Amino acid sequence: MDLAGKNVVYLGGFGGIGQKCVQELLKRPIKALAIFDLTENSELLAKWKNENPNTDILYQKVDITQKSDIEVAYKATAERFGHFDVVVNGSGLMNDRLIELTIQINLLGVINSTLTALEYMDKAKGGKGGLIVNISSVAGLQPTALMAVYSAAKTGVTTFTRALANPIYYAHSGVGFITICPGFTDTGLLEDIGNKTTFTYDTPMLAMFNKVKKQKAEDCAKNLVVAIETAKNGAVLMLELGETKEVDIPDLWKPQLED
Ligand SMILES: NC(=O)c1ccc[n+]([C@@H]2O[C@H](COP(=O)([O-])OP(=O)(O)OC[C@H]3O[C@@H](n4cnc5c(N)ncnc54)[C@H](O)[C@@H]3O)[C@@H](O)[C@H]2O)c1
Repeated sequence: MDLAGKNVVYLGGFGGIGQKCVQELLKRPIKALAIFDLTENSELLAKWKNENPNTDILYQKVDITQKSDIEVAYKATAERFGHFDVVVNGSGLMNDRLIELTIQINLLGVINSTLTALEYMDKAKGGKGGLIVNISSVAGLQPTALMAVYSAAKTGVTTFTRALANPIYYAHSGVGFITICPGFTDTGLLEDIGNKTTFTYDTPMLAMFNKVKKQKAEDCAKNLVVAIETAKNGAVLMLELGETKEVDIPDLWKPQLED
């Protein structure tokens, strides 16, 4: 998608990866940008507004665990921008000691945000179509034992997003879907891992986890924005150590139809 003149909604835009993605998006001549996040970073917001006078930048306070916050934010954004073309679901939490919250933020939140955004974007409902980008993880591609709950939530995001990319839905709504699976990225999410693992006892997995190579958030962000510009509906992209690799997930089951 050519981002020139487009309206973008970014959830988690003040986070480690989110900030860098917003900065990368603002290098393109986008028309408007809404940042949905739990708390406002007013300094950064003011800086972005000053540096980008031609882009309408809006902040909406959203606790993604609250469906009503999501609904209010999309309504306000649609009223201000007229429509939006791209949504990035980039909020997240990695803390397996908080089971419900991990599922609420990483999976339920993404589902509620996606389905609410679709109400406005779906061509069959008077929308203009567009692209929804859901940030999963490498933990959403294969089981990550140290963080089993987070891994389950992210696997849910991958599968939910792939399911919505079904060509039958795309033909109906004109809304494409891509799944982004970053590898380890140097942000606050990875801090204090030892107190966020599924189980409290020590395992060699933790020592290994602490040695895994991390990419810079800027590198992940550059590739994410290029993915928005180039990826096809249904793509699952692993963004690992500054590279992008399309993941080909095979069909493991096909329904056998009655005669
Ligand atoms: N950092 C990594 O190694 C890594 C790897 C793979 C995937 N990811 C995913 O990338 C995304 C961004 O993560 P990050 O590394 O920038 O983490 P981060 O902790 O820096 O940012 C997380 C963002 O989510 C927001 N958030 C948290 N709880 C929220 C809530 N209840 N309501 C609304 N917003 C909320 C935060 O305010 C913040 O903006 C997440 O989905 C994360 O799971 C990160």
